[in-house]
Amino acid sequence: MLSGRARWLSTIGLALGLAATCGPSQAAPADGPKPTLYVQVCAQCHDKGVGPVLLGRRLAAPAIQAIVRRGLNGMPAFRPTEIPDAELAALSRFLQEAPKEQQP
Ligand code: HEC
Repeated sequence: MLSGRARWLSTIGLALGLAATCGPSQAAPADGPKPTLYVQVCAQCHDKGVGPVLLGRRLAAPAIQAIVRRGLNGMPAFRPTEIPDAELAALSRFLQEAPKEQQP
């Protein structure tokens, strides 16, 4: 098991590697409907208080991709067979740009 710091540093390293290899973007519009993948998977934890809110925080897309692939403490990792690279890339760009959730 890596220490928290080693784990965080390796996450950053992976994020930088991903940033270098990322192609041009084809993201869903940030103010449009949420991607199905977000609603069906991520929101089950992240809109329900299990994980931290993701929308409106401008989290860096490569860091989001690294966390989804590697997992983070209570968050499970997702393999490319579960979430293909292209879907993850589009999802993370959506999350990076998405506005804060409106309060009802
Ligand atoms: C089973 C519940 C669960 C699911 C499903 C889930 N997450 Fe998480 N996620 C968590 C938890 C819990 C954390 C907090 C981990 C920690 O900081 O210890 C987290 C943390 C994160 C973080 C870091 C947030 C921060 O503030 O540092 C990101 C980014 C993230 N998740 C993205 C996603 C994405 C994208 C999806 C959908 C593909 C997803 N998660 C699906 C539970 C989940």
